[in-house]
Amino acid sequence: MPEEEKKQAETTDSTQLVQKLAINFLMRFYIVFKIFKLYAENNELIEQQTALLIEELGKLKEVEPEIKFRIKRESIFFNQQRVKFSLSNYHIFKFLLEEFRKREIGQLEFPSEINQQELISALAIISKKRPGPNPFDDIVAELKEQQIAGLSLGKMQVSEQWLSPEKSSTRLYFLSILHLREISEREKENEKIKLNTTRRLIQSIFNHLADNESFFLGLTNIKNHDEYTLNHSVNVSLLAIALGKRLGLSRAEMVDLGVAAFFHDLGKIETPLAILNKPSQLTEEERKIIELHPHQGAEKLVQLREYKHLPISAIHVAMEHHIKEDLTGYPHFKIKTDINLYSRIVKVCDFFDAITTKRIYRQKVFTRAEALSLMLEHIGTEFNPVILKAFVQMMGIFPVGSVVLLNTGEIGLVVAINHEPKFLLRPKVKIIVDAEGNKINGEVVDLTDIQPENKKFKRTIIKEINPDDYNLKVADYFLAQAEA
Ligand SMILES: [Fe+2]
Ligand SMILES: [Fe+2]
Repeated sequence: MPEEEKKQAETTDSTQLVQKLAINFLMRFYIVFKIFKLYAENNELIEQQTALLIEELGKLKEVEPEIKFRIKRESIFFNQQRVKFSLSNYHIFKFLLEEFRKREIGQLEFPSEINQQELISALAIISKKRPGPNPFDDIVAELKEQQIAGLSLGKMQVSEQWLSPEKSSTRLYFLSILHLREISEREKENEKIKLNTTRRLIQSIFNHLADNESFFLGLTNIKNHDEYTLNHSVNVSLLAIALGKRLGLSRAEMVDLGVAAFFHDLGKIETPLAILNKPSQLTEEERKIIELHPHQGAEKLVQLREYKHLPISAIHVAMEHHIKEDLTGYPHFKIKTDINLYSRIVKVCDFFDAITTKRIYRQKVFTRAEALSLMLEHIGTEFNPVILKAFVQMMGIFPVGSVVLLNTGEIGLVVAINHEPKFLLRPKVKIIVDAEGNKINGEVVDLTDIQPENKKFKRTIIKEINPDDYNLKVADYFLAQAEA
């Protein structure tokens, strides 16, 4: 090997080693931090785990003399290197980032020598909950008061202190797509699939959705045509979780439902792309191949055999999501009297996301409101009435992501719906085109706002319009919020 290449290979090796050791250390740190949040300082577990943490610290010191962690631009840095977390340890990264942010800690440096007792006392102070307005100053004051030297802390810069819910939701959205892509690739290669990661992702989505539903529903406007099935599966999963919430499912049930929805089209890995993306009408034979995907999906899920992480309902959903309420549809069973509840929920979300997406073979793309009205025409035959009604109620008459023409001549994008029945026609909208027809980054207005002079509504929706006709890219507005 030439000298230059050799050098490069050595650098890569040592970078990888540092990455690995830094991750191991942070994993230990994460465990210790969690234990401190649960137990008193003199707990045996704490003794044990801090000893292991010191051991990891020793290993890190062998390769890097300085041990400094920093939070910078949504990442954790070890000295000059960004620590690269994978999906399987993403929860550790997220936990640490959140805990540090809560305490305004932007930097944590370990001295070359630290004794265990000192470390325990310092961590006890750092991990303590800090409800006050100046958590960082409180921590530093307490360390000083108790005369604990050793660890040195740096305050987080103001710009790093807060991650908007939009930003973290969007990140989660794309992470889910990446994860599903990884799963599809592994499935093709017959490699092991990490279902506990899927579960964790869906759990995080659930947590975010709980306090940020409108934005999440807005994200389902993202339609990536190149990776239709991946994107579609994530959208269906989000819609299903939100719908499950409305139907009164428990948290655990909603996570199961989300996982099941996530995998509903897994069988499409087997469908040739030439058929999936065929621009013209399918032949009878091609249609039959597509209609195999429920079976193929269910079979794949059965083979995963990770029953601990995979709800059995996922197999039902893969198999049944194209069966209609009147038991027609496909696959056709000679004797079938019942459809799984989750399959019925996924069916509604699946249909909605599919017809609101532009596809090369579909003549018409339905706006979100048109899609709901078409679906209502098939209530009871194609869709379960209770589930469809709950879905329509959740989406509102003008679902999040609809583009509407207002009586002022402005065009608005629905960003949140008003669930109070008398205001269903009055959602919150972001003005995206002014009365003169200029595209603008306007404010978000509430259509229930009243003009004080005449007590009339300031703005009213005249009709829904198709964003394509005006060359408006709905998803971009939601993504822009995440970048703000
Ligand atoms: Fe399907
Ligand atoms: Fe689907």
